[in-house]
Amino acid sequence: MISVRVPAKLNLHLGVGPRREDGYHELATVYQAVAAYDEVRVERSRRLSVAVHGEGADALPAGEENLAGRAARALAEHLGRRPGVRIELDKSIPVAAGLAGGSADAAGALLACASLWDADIDGDELAEIAAELGSDVPFALHGGMALGTGRGERLAPVLGRGRYHWVLALADGGLATPSVYDELDRRRAAGEAPARASSPDPVLVALRSGDPAALGAALANDLQSAALALRPGLRRVLDAGDELGAVGGIVSGSGPTVALLARSREAAVSLAAGLAGLDVCRTVRQVDGPVPGARVAETVAVSSRAPSARR
Ligand code: C5P
Repeated sequence: MISVRVPAKLNLHLGVGPRREDGYHELATVYQAVAAYDEVRVERSRRLSVAVHGEGADALPAGEENLAGRAARALAEHLGRRPGVRIELDKSIPVAAGLAGGSADAAGALLACASLWDADIDGDELAEIAAELGSDVPFALHGGMALGTGRGERLAPVLGRGRYHWVLALADGGLATPSVYDELDRRRAAGEAPARASSPDPVLVALRSGDPAALGAALANDLQSAALALRPGLRRVLDAGDELGAVGGIVSGSGPTVALLARSREAAVSLAAGLAGLDVCRTVRQVDGPVPGARVAETVAVSSRAPSARR
């Protein structure tokens, strides 16, 4: 049995260009992996199956329809082997929250299956398969911080200093990513939103300084106005962050999670407590970043003659 831990992501900057012919938007985005994790466990089995436990499990397909199942199948096809594996997802990254939880599960399944099958595959090949599965999947493998271009799947390293303390305001219900991109296109066509992607440069400069206040001032997300149009209540969370002393706040990816940046770990504790008392979101969670990407956490030999070794 192989167990892999995969982090959630925030987009510190999300610059969205025009829609391409393939339906995706050209992006320039700065990712940071943060310490909220899904665990992906795999063990050999006669056929491919996926079981989902934990946060938001009911909202996700089990079985092969799950993105983690599709990841296992894609890797098996690449390797020319059968995808006989049982996948269990222990979710703590909220579903459809703008934190790339589904992408984390796909990345975890790729790494876990590659390890289980002792696959002769390098990081670049794995990243290529990851990119086919979703725009954020390569970053979930990579972790840390990175500049994503193309659909978000082409990664370049980002130099940065410091550790950042976030308070995540988790919302009731999710937001479907395509509907947020559609709303941005609609707003652009109506002249209600700038037509061009914003530049990631201010965030890249702020990350080199390591100063949370500089990063807070530089955070930007071109999808934010669209997410706020679909979920106006998120504005109250951003305003509450301002009032409670956050140095910055942003809708995470396509939302509806709002990420508030605190000056220090202590400031994050009081920000989280203050926010929890205001009834502006479902729940709050404190996370730090950056953290490494998908990693094998545990390998347990499972033998049919030693059933006690099974989970
Ligand atoms: O790549 P992924 O499957 O995560 O994308 C989900 C949806 O988000 C896409 O179907 C598309 O509607 C939107 N998207 C986009 N441009 C991107 C990434 C995602 O329009 N660069």
